[in-house]
Parts: sequence; structure tokens; C-alpha cells
Amino acid sequence: MKTLGQFIVEKQAEYPNAKGELSGILSSIRLVAKVIHRDINKAGLTNNIIGNSGVENVQGEAQMKLDLFAHNTMKQALIAREEVAGFASEEEENFVAFDTERGRNAKYVILTDPLDGSSNIDVNVAVGTIFSIYRRVSPIGTKVTLEDFLQPGHKQVAAGYIVYGSSTMLVYTTGNGVNGFTYDPSLGVFCLSHENMQCPKAGRVYSINEGQYLKFPQGVKKYIKYCQEEDKETQRPYASRYIGSLVSDFHRNMLKGGIYIYPSATNYPNGKLRLLYEGNPMAFLAEQAGGLATDGYTRILDIPPTELHERVPLFIGSKEMVEKAQEFMNTFE
Ligand code: AHG
Ligand code: MN
Ligand code: MN
Repeated sequence: MKTLGQFIVEKQAEYPNAKGELSGILSSIRLVAKVIHRDINKAGLTNNIIGNSGVENVQGEAQMKLDLFAHNTMKQALIAREEVAGFASEEEENFVAFDTERGRNAKYVILTDPLDGSSNIDVNVAVGTIFSIYRRVSPIGTKVTLEDFLQPGHKQVAAGYIVYGSSTMLVYTTGNGVNGFTYDPSLGVFCLSHENMQCPKAGRVYSINEGQYLKFPQGVKKYIKYCQEEDKETQRPYASRYIGSLVSDFHRNMLKGGIYIYPSATNYPNGKLRLLYEGNPMAFLAEQAGGLATDGYTRILDIPPTELHERVPLFIGSKEMVEKAQEFMNTFE
């Protein structure tokens, strides 16, 4: 049985010049995962965790208490350990520069969706945490700037998610494949359970909020109908599965094969998901597992970001399925 700690140390040893900064960040995320896991598991027992916090976040969405709790847990862990130079979160309007001696001299910045699928927390359905790590572009020794956070996704050094499901798992990549670790709460350790994860080239699941069908672009409407048609060779009709938390839907599709789509819609011109906190990290993971992620036309990892909280349509999962959906997008206006 290999623990996450052991795995991180082994990987670091493969890079003789590594100073252990990235390993330190991953250890901080491991701690954050344990704290959020603990509190989610007793969410039903305490009013401090479930429900609406009564405030809206920067994007005008209701902030749940757990959104704030997860955001603060992540921020405090990173501040306390001084492993990164800066931090940006879906739940905070501006990025935070860690302006201490160690912070200014750190090499990396981190971006996060601290709690993904938060509307599911009150009803005991799987939620997640997403993170994305870049090497800063501003000079070491100074305070980080906005440009450190607005880098295209292909510049990511590491990305991953934690899914708090029937078991808690931490899945991440540093650009050398994807590995998954399952949490054993009795031991308090993550154990390597899914080595070198591969997303099947094709699957038979499509995940999309079909209640919004009438607002979708023509290409998406036609692709949905394609998914529902009978065809032996491609095993259609596909099954429709939509949990409503990207991390969980993505995790299932990565293991079993499938496509997740959050398209643009007449009420969401750029979709709902955020490029920096959701699109890029999940796209990096998808590609590292042999899958694909686009906005319907363009590779997600090639999109140059222009602002912290920008949104992006997302087509992600099994390579052949995403290519097929893209074909429909290009064919129908
Ligand atoms: P978050 O909880 O971080 O705001 O993200 C929720 C996202 C995503 O996880 C999920 O797939 C999607 O919103 C669900 O949105 P709809 O309810 O519009 O389908
Ligand atoms: Mn989210
Ligand atoms: Mn969130």
C-alpha cells in the first residue's frame, strides 16, 4: 500500500533539481482535503455547515456556508505554510498576494474552486474541491501580480480535485499522467488506489443539464438528439447522468467513459463554469488521462484568460465523444 506522502517523495526524487516547493503545496492540499472531508461528513449534524450563508459571491451566486468554510480552510492552510506566492479563489473577488518574506520568494501561485457542486451539500450528494497551480511569471522576491494568475491552462504545473463521494479521493496530475488516492479515514491517510488513470476513448454516458435544452445552441441540441438515437455500433442511445457537481460528473466519466457539457445558453452567453477555477484544471486532467476538453471549438488549455472570474463553455471527457460534439458545433450555427 503506497500512501500519497510516499508517492510525493518518490516523484520529487525523480527531479534532482526540485527544491520541494511543489511537494509542500501538495501536502498542504492533502491537509485541506482531510479537514473538508471531516466537516462534510458531519454536515448533517450541525447547522454551522449546511445551508445558505446569506451572502452572494462575486459572481452573484448564493454562497453556501460550506463554500466559505472550504475557501477559508484552503486560504488559511496556504497562508500558514507559506508554500505559495499567491492565491485566487472562485469565492473571492481579487487574488491574494502572500506578502511575507517566504511568500514573496515562493515560485508558485494556486487557483481554486474550494467547493464545487455546493448546492448538493444539503442533500448528501457528492461535492468536490478543484485546484490549479502555475509557476509565477513575475520576478521571485516581489509580490505576485494579476498576470501570474492569467496564464493559459497549458502553463499549469499541476492540477487536481478532491471528490467527497461515497469515499473521498484526491486525484491529481503534474503533467506526467493522472493518479488517484483514496482516503482511509481510520488511518488518516490517502492511499494510491488508481494508478495512471486513463479516460476511455469513448463511452456511453452524456452529462448535461437538459432542463436548459431550449436555451442551448443548435449544435448542442443536435448532439443531444444524436446521443439519444439508436445505433448498435456506437452503443447508442447513451445513458444520461447528471449529478450537478462537475467534479463528480467528471470523475465518473473519466473512469467509465462519457462526455460532460456545460454549453453557452441564451441566459449564460459563456456558460456557467469558470475558466481558471474549473475549466483549466479539469482540462489538464482530462488531457493527461487521454481525454479532451474544448469550448466547442477551441482547446480549453489554449484560451488566453483576460480576467480572474471569466466563464467558458465546457465540453470535456472521452476524446471521441468530445470530437463528435465539436463536429456538431461546427456544422450547426
Ligand atoms: P459551484 O458549486 O462551484 O458554483 O459549481 C457548480 C457548477 C458545477 O459543479 C455543476 O456541474 C454546475 O454548476 C451545475 O449547474 P446547473 O445547476 O446549472 O446545471
Ligand atoms: Mn464549481
Ligand atoms: Mn464552488
